[in-house]
Amino acid sequence: MRIGRSRGAARWKPRFRVEETGGVRALLVKNPSSVFRIADVHPRDKVYRDQSLSYGSEYHVPVMVSEVLGYLNPARGGFYLDGTLGGGGHSEAILDASGSAFVIGVDRDPAALAEASRRLMGFGGRFRAVQGNYANAVQASELEPGSLAGVLLDLGISSRQVDEDARGFTFRSGAPLDMRMEGAAGFESAADLLNTMDEAELATIFWRYGEEKKSRRLARVIVEMREKQPLERSDDLSSAVDRVIPRATSQDRARIFQAVRIAVNDEITSLELALPSLRDALAAGGVFVVIAYHSLEDRLVKDSFREWSRECVCPPGLPVCVCRGAALGESLTRKPVMASPDEVELNPRARSARLRAWRKT
Ligand SMILES: C[S@@+](CC[C@H](N)C(=O)[O-])C[C@H]1O[C@@H](n2cnc3c(N)ncnc32)[C@H](O)[C@@H]1O
Repeated sequence: MRIGRSRGAARWKPRFRVEETGGVRALLVKNPSSVFRIADVHPRDKVYRDQSLSYGSEYHVPVMVSEVLGYLNPARGGFYLDGTLGGGGHSEAILDASGSAFVIGVDRDPAALAEASRRLMGFGGRFRAVQGNYANAVQASELEPGSLAGVLLDLGISSRQVDEDARGFTFRSGAPLDMRMEGAAGFESAADLLNTMDEAELATIFWRYGEEKKSRRLARVIVEMREKQPLERSDDLSSAVDRVIPRATSQDRARIFQAVRIAVNDEITSLELALPSLRDALAAGGVFVVIAYHSLEDRLVKDSFREWSRECVCPPGLPVCVCRGAALGESLTRKPVMASPDEVELNPRARSARLRAWRKT
């Protein structure tokens, strides 16, 4: 069997990768017809043809691409808003799926916007990039209410943002405490926040966004440290974690760093503002898909989709209904959709992803 690089633009480095587990060979295939003929594969070989991986790039591997396409159904055509453009993987999948689909891609991060714009250039006028917060996407993109066929939010940050130490999202040693999605153009960095916020506010961040049981102690330690010297590097926050959580694991560190990132970028407020505004921008029959990686965000999405799907939202005990009196739409996912075991095996980031979808009436 011949294995080699296929022709055409490189998407992600291991375009197809051969994996040997328990004597079974696994291949990642971008596009079976362009890479090699399936007929060449030995019957014992395991062939993955996961769309998420095929839309992956060295920048980021998007999760649950097939599921996203299944709910958004770009074959219907129309305008789709990708509020978290990142490396443009999901957007490309939408644009590839139908020649009558248009995508407006929004991201806070200028580097993501530049990367995705390069990648999607070939789609010409079917793709438009807008820099900003998805919470303001309706105004920034001058969207008419009721104009969108679909909205996608794939929350959090991309692999590239974590991989670049200078962006300061990582707990790897030596990285600056930055974490601003807008980069230098952003407001307060993680260091600014950790060095200026009062102890009670810090404790709330660790408790609320990091579910840290010793949140007050951690806040106290940070305040003690900064009285001697301001926190500047990932190592400073890591050593505060080490002083509070004996034998802290990388999951502990990731959880605390994530909590700070959520606070630096005010991520929960963005989502709270975006949900109703993007819902109103959907056309009748339009679909809202959200992929969350944090329980707080997932709960917000679940509660919103449930509330929008109720016929009456009047407070209990009112003799007559005085609210909208009709459901705004219906949830398409009773439970969150999770990535398949195959996808998680190949892209561990997909493990914590929870997808929910809702359709407007
Ligand atoms: C998980 S990545 C998205 C990856 C993307 N779906 C892909 O296929 O490459 C999340 C992206 O959303 C952006 N982002 C996060 N919160 C945002 C917000 N409130 N407004 C706009 N962009 C945001 C981040 O900068 C990051 O690039």
